[in-house]
Amino acid sequence: MRIHLLLSGLFALAGSLASADEFRVLPYVQNPATDAITVRWLTSSNTPGTVTVETPQGARVFESQPVEATALSYSRFAEEPGGPHPAVPFLHSIRITELTAGTPYQYMVTQGAETHSSTFSTAPNSDQPIRFLVYSDPETEPESSTSPPVDWPVGPGSNRPDGITKYLVDQTIGYRENLKVMQSRAPNFISLVGDLVETGGEQRDWDELWKHNAGDYGWITGSVPILPAIGNHENYAGPGGGYTVEGALYSTAKYLTYFDVPDNGASDPRVHGRYYRIDYGPITLIALDSSDGLPHKSEHDTNHNLEPGAAPDFNPGSEQYAWLEKQLAEAQQRSRFTFVQYHHTAYGSGPHSVPFGNPSFSGQFGIPMRVLQPLFMQYGVDIVFSGHDELMERSLVTGVEMRTDGAECEHQIQYYDSGVGGDGLRGSSANFDNPARQFLVHDDAPEVWEAGRLVSGGKHYGHLEVNVRPDESGKWSVTIEPVHVFPVTDASGAITGWERRIYNDVVTITE
Ligand SMILES: [Fe+2]
Ligand SMILES: [Fe+2]
Repeated sequence: MRIHLLLSGLFALAGSLASADEFRVLPYVQNPATDAITVRWLTSSNTPGTVTVETPQGARVFESQPVEATALSYSRFAEEPGGPHPAVPFLHSIRITELTAGTPYQYMVTQGAETHSSTFSTAPNSDQPIRFLVYSDPETEPESSTSPPVDWPVGPGSNRPDGITKYLVDQTIGYRENLKVMQSRAPNFISLVGDLVETGGEQRDWDELWKHNAGDYGWITGSVPILPAIGNHENYAGPGGGYTVEGALYSTAKYLTYFDVPDNGASDPRVHGRYYRIDYGPITLIALDSSDGLPHKSEHDTNHNLEPGAAPDFNPGSEQYAWLEKQLAEAQQRSRFTFVQYHHTAYGSGPHSVPFGNPSFSGQFGIPMRVLQPLFMQYGVDIVFSGHDELMERSLVTGVEMRTDGAECEHQIQYYDSGVGGDGLRGSSANFDNPARQFLVHDDAPEVWEAGRLVSGGKHYGHLEVNVRPDESGKWSVTIEPVHVFPVTDASGAITGWERRIYNDVVTITE
């Protein structure tokens, strides 16, 4: 008996020693191309690991060269709660090349005694259908599990019983269930349009993001790449650092460490990774950095709190604007559909869509982004995906596209705020300016309650599902479904399950 106890004690010790070398973030895929993809993971130790990819020609094995991820320190500006915190982790990043378009590959990452297996897919050729999902504003932080659920303002036409003012579950459960539904749809990729974390300068909030995406809560990114856009929260360092240049650069260095995206060739290397273009199957997706506009504190500035110099301007005359025009022209030539994503919604009904000069101006509005609309119209952008207002909202603008053959034609651009990933579930704000609004969940999907149970409608965590595909005659279309993850309750009001439901605002765009 004594020997048995001693042995099991030794095994327990071996287990804890081994875990010191193992994963801080499970393997996740990034930057998909037709012939390549990046596999990344993070570990506590600097021991090399391997990726084994199964191919028709046999297994290919790649060894990592871990790099100390110095940007991922616990905040240098103030002590982060929840310590003592672990040391800076090591980043393993391997670009797997010489792959075949539109092909699933099984892969396995081995680090010490631990192995994780999943499947990634390369980007398809331009004649193949694709599906992707879009959401924003999960704003992860450990407090999402310990704080009460968010405010849940009741919309017009609802018959909600009195006294219910908070959402039915907390933000951790809301985001987790949203990701489960996303994973069940097997998308090609996920657009995550900013405000990934609550405080960009706090490492514990990034740890929480990856807990959901490649850790204890779920592992969707083992097979589905995130194509991110940078939000205001990624520029915010929190206590001590705030929105200073130093604080913002410290915070965005974390964002830039995690994500591998196509190079934008910007003259300032600090701007690499902050905006990019990706051609994926039949579409082009352009991600912009809407963090800041010049002049500072003007009607052209999306963040009056962020000190100038931390983020690239997007206004006409800026390097980002010139880059954007070039990408749009190329996309119009190459792709059936062009989509743009950036964080600060240009059209919304929330707190960040109140005009400059209004007493309830938030100082962080998306209205300056409308400056890009003539360019989007000219080059036939089909959809703009954003967040920031944390509503589920669609807006529509009409204008004239200049086609590549020189002909002019009427053109429509759909604008979305998909900021219901896992944080706020807001209603509309006083004094917002949105002349283009078509659908707003808060107003247009009234809650229906029966005997104390919500049976349909209302604002919930969710995302957009976008399917791009041809019909039998070869005519291509894009269908956008606003999805919500509906909590099913029993007679007592306790949640018994979750259903994927679609709001009554499905949009189809044809070529
Ligand atoms: Fe947000
Ligand atoms: Fe935001």
